[in-house]
Amino acid sequence: MSAASPAPLPRFLLPDNASIVDGVLHIAGHSVPGLSERFGTPLFVYDESHVRDRCRQAVASFESVAYAAKAFFNKTMARLVAEEGLSIDVASGGELYIALSAGVPPSRLVMHGNAKSERELRMAVEAGVHRMVVDGFDELTRIEHIVGPDETVDILLRITPGVEIHTHDFISTGQDDSKFGFTLSTGLAHEAVERARRSSSVRLQGIHVHLGSQVFRADSFARAIAVIAPALRDWELPELSLGGGLGVPYVTGETAPDFGDWGTVVRTAIADEGLGAIEIAVEPGRSIVASSAVTVYTVQAVKDLRGIRTYVAVDGGMSDNPRPVLYGSGYEAFDPNQADAPRPATVRIVGKHCESGDVLVDDAAIPRGVAAGDLLATPVTGAYGHSMGSNYNKVLRPAVVFVSEGGVREAVRRERYEDLLITDLG
Ligand SMILES: Cc1ncc(COP(=O)(O)O)c(C=O)c1O
Repeated sequence: MSAASPAPLPRFLLPDNASIVDGVLHIAGHSVPGLSERFGTPLFVYDESHVRDRCRQAVASFESVAYAAKAFFNKTMARLVAEEGLSIDVASGGELYIALSAGVPPSRLVMHGNAKSERELRMAVEAGVHRMVVDGFDELTRIEHIVGPDETVDILLRITPGVEIHTHDFISTGQDDSKFGFTLSTGLAHEAVERARRSSSVRLQGIHVHLGSQVFRADSFARAIAVIAPALRDWELPELSLGGGLGVPYVTGETAPDFGDWGTVVRTAIADEGLGAIEIAVEPGRSIVASSAVTVYTVQAVKDLRGIRTYVAVDGGMSDNPRPVLYGSGYEAFDPNQADAPRPATVRIVGKHCESGDVLVDDAAIPRGVAAGDLLATPVTGAYGHSMGSNYNKVLRPAVVFVSEGGVREAVRRERYEDLLITDLG
């Protein structure tokens, strides 16, 4: 939860190419209120150069980087990360379909999922993805049925190292009690390695671990490497993927390691464990894209419940950002027409959905006097907002624009009422 602070929004929460001109927020030279006028609200505005910069930092820090599509995905994003030299981690048939539709070569795709259906496995095998990350014994059996007699699929085995990191339970996945992967401590991981080695349908290339999301201490990755190192030395496999999870600051006062710090900690831990020959891959999602975007809303109603609190209701909510409802995640808010103004008022910013829990910012600091018709924006909404969004209450999904010095690209158009009927057979 963000603590109300009368100070203006800290600049570090804005995209790299944000500037404030006479109080008005611009991104890559484009007025954010102007974009809202043109594309309507709610609106996701992405700073394209910011995303490219994070991709370059990741590529400079690790041998192999796959962008985790779940954070935010569409054809524009798929092409952009591929242009920057990243592979893509897809975790469903839908993400795979979009990546292939964008023209990303299958040799740049890594297929994830703890409950891959036969159809999804077939899609991935037939496309020829680079690596299948196998999550359970049933999946191995299914792959054996799907691949032809002379074919093999290159796989990683996802293992859970039993490392608990400081994050929300639902986004912490490396602990023993998890629906993902083969547990190391109970011997399942060892059995999986033996089973995969006996199979003529798969070629075991390495191990995958993902600790969870919003990892704020790079040494958590060193701990995971120390825990799995004895098994890795036994198995002598050529590849290790450390998943994603690098944290990002969302609110005043938070700090997180950057890609350089992450790479240094990992390289040191790998060297300390004598694992220098192994190829290291990572799968960042949030740290590539979260802080590159802001979401802009229009205030629809302000209610002062005298002596209780003030509610500010906007034209979006849990359908474009469910993270506060799911995890109690904190955000900041500001008015993009007075982006450097002090924020002495404390309000609860809520959405338009029929749920009392539809809160975007619990104790938001905003400028005084914000009224119906004004804009409000939340920064650091580039990850797990649009991608986790929904049509709850048949609310239309927002447009997504990418802005750069070269111009404005509408990557995803705003939904129309007709879109709601596309799959409705009446
Ligand atoms: C297997 C795997 N890889 C990568 C990621 C991306 O994590 P993040 O966006 O926190 O970097 C996730 C997130 O859930 C994941 O489950």
